[in-house]
Amino acid sequence: MCGDNGTGLEGSVIMTELKHFLDLDLIDAVDLRQMIQLGVNFKNGSGENEPLAGKSLAMIFEKPSTRTRVSFEVGMKQLGGKTIVLNHDDMQIGRGETIADTARVLSRYVDAIMLRTNHPDKLEELAHHATVPVINALTDRSHPCQLMADVMTFEEHRGSIAGRKIAWVGDGNNMAVTWLHAATKFNFELILACPEELSIPRSEIDRALASGTQVTETTDPAEAVSGADCVVTDTWVSMGDQPGERRHRLLEPYRVDQGIMEKASADAIFMHCLPAHRGEEVTSAVLEGKQSVVWDEAENRLHAQKGILVWCLG
Ligand code: CP
Ligand code: NVA
Repeated sequence: MCGDNGTGLEGSVIMTELKHFLDLDLIDAVDLRQMIQLGVNFKNGSGENEPLAGKSLAMIFEKPSTRTRVSFEVGMKQLGGKTIVLNHDDMQIGRGETIADTARVLSRYVDAIMLRTNHPDKLEELAHHATVPVINALTDRSHPCQLMADVMTFEEHRGSIAGRKIAWVGDGNNMAVTWLHAATKFNFELILACPEELSIPRSEIDRALASGTQVTETTDPAEAVSGADCVVTDTWVSMGDQPGERRHRLLEPYRVDQGIMEKASADAIFMHCLPAHRGEEVTSAVLEGKQSVVWDEAENRLHAQKGILVWCLG
């Protein structure tokens, strides 16, 4: 919002760095911890009352959403702020207006912008041109808001996640990549069991290893979950993926069932970001079973994101 206004005063404007929430690997671990603690405080009722009064958040969706949309809307309102939900097809970007121009215009109206998109590049472009914080509400690469809720949920049930063993079983998708980012920032061990053809990009693994993250890859789900404190999976067909028989055939051996859960640690929990496809990536018995914490995980989207919003805007 700073420019040449002809007063000659622009040089005296002090610019502060925007706090974008784009990806866990771009944010300091101390800040991520602070956001989770804020979320915990809001959940237990000790959070600040309406810290975002008078602030507004624009939420742009290029893909469907239930949890993200509702939890951000409710969360922002509970914090005293307002939301504007924008469907991509109803906006001028749907008719070719650039992301850069959209970013500059929205920044004049609202205090933060959230985007769910297929393309990580669009998110980067939005953040580059916005003069207000930008929040990643899922791209084909990552889903950091979900992981904040997931870490909060693990810790609520099992204590500190640092040093614990988390097993990812299934498609090497955006959630798998974000679990890897989280392993780096929250210091836990991650074992990824994905079919070779659907493994996460090598560049992500190399970057994590270079920063000292304990990550191992296998194609054997039983090996991955052995002694794990938490077993995680996600849909076999993410938004933007082409469904098909081949994909299902490749992923068939990676279904999380009772047999897989029995190989994990006796008190292991089961997590899934939802929406779930019972009988595909997870059996109904596991999803509804005693080890499953998926409903707490969904609820914690609300609390953790309140922490994210206050960090970005507070
Ligand atoms: N987990 C998650 O982001 O769900 P939605 O797609 O419903 O927002
Ligand atoms: N991997 C899934 C997550 C949905 C919340 C997808 O991108 O569709």
